[in-house]
Amino acid sequence: MILLEHHTIDRRGALRHVAGGIACVALPVQARAAGGEARHTVPFGSAVQIPWLVDNPEYRAAIVRHCSIVVPEGGLKWLDMRPDPKSYWFGLGDKLVDFGARHDMQVRGHTLVWHGAMPQWAKELGSAAEATHALSDHISKVVGRYAGRIASWDVINEPLPEDQQTPNERRASIWYRLLGEDYIPFALKLANAADPRAELVINEYDLEFVGGRFERKRAGMLDLLEKVRKSGAPLHALGLQAHLRGERDIDRPGLARFIREVHGLGLEIVVTELDVMDYSLPGDVAERDTAVAARAAALLDVVFENCTPRAVLTWGLSDRHVWVPDYFKRPDKLPNRPLPLDENYAAKPFQRVLERFGAKVRN
Ligand code: XIL
Repeated sequence: MILLEHHTIDRRGALRHVAGGIACVALPVQARAAGGEARHTVPFGSAVQIPWLVDNPEYRAAIVRHCSIVVPEGGLKWLDMRPDPKSYWFGLGDKLVDFGARHDMQVRGHTLVWHGAMPQWAKELGSAAEATHALSDHISKVVGRYAGRIASWDVINEPLPEDQQTPNERRASIWYRLLGEDYIPFALKLANAADPRAELVINEYDLEFVGGRFERKRAGMLDLLEKVRKSGAPLHALGLQAHLRGERDIDRPGLARFIREVHGLGLEIVVTELDVMDYSLPGDVAERDTAVAARAAALLDVVFENCTPRAVLTWGLSDRHVWVPDYFKRPDKLPNRPLPLDENYAAKPFQRVLERFGAKVRN
């Protein structure tokens, strides 16, 4: 599988690892899922809820059947692991990594540096020295513990502000406020030192849509990626979270150009958190499932036309277990249907879209 390999990759000549980084040459024709048949191997997978994996055989079976890669929805976030500045809880992470090994799955790590899911003590760090110590201790311990077992890390999650105005603006997280933008290359270097084989990713949302706000966010991301490149810090890929919306169109030319520009910086693409927020779509289930699938297809069309992504992950597998209603409840109170499988683990049109791009049922 491609994601774990760290030697030279020549997938129809499309990708090559080069010293200290990765060169990706876009091959629009070969990489297409045209005619319904995928011609390349990209690992497909899902975010998982670790307690469900352990306790719920039906859930576990669906994950094993459909995923060749897993990432924890929670369990490796600071809030889950760091009750106080000195302690680490590795219980959930260990379970996931064991599960991945047992089922021959790749594991992605999510996430090392984020503004969200932070324990109170970490939100209250008071100085650059404290922040530097907290980051370096956390990243070396966590990445070091799973070295060789977690193949790819979302090192930096959501570094850009909600409403990007100028390209050099960054999200005012505790890390940015105490350390400035340097926290980003600093964290990447720490992760690389703790596991030189791990793929390192910067992960962000709202990079996909039509509209000034999203154009500005793409410009902000390019500005950030260029600066990281100049800093010499190791970075392999950009994660497109791809939390899509029923009411927002994909900016096909804008996203295509953006992917090519990201490639121009020697970086690859991972689709990390694909799902479709359906709160504004019709209540009728068949209509809604068709619209959700069409939106996912529109995104994947542009991605696969412009590169071969390193992996495609949805943020959950079945509508039975979804994070979406916490943030995007439907006004009519009907259950959300953002994911590839329905609440009984049956394939929806969204799953057929994934299959068209190469997702396979494993057994
Ligand atoms: C979400 C999880 O799915 C929820 O279970 C949790 O309560 C909050 O976080 N972008 C991210 C993810 O990078 O970490 C978020 O996950 C969803 C949005």
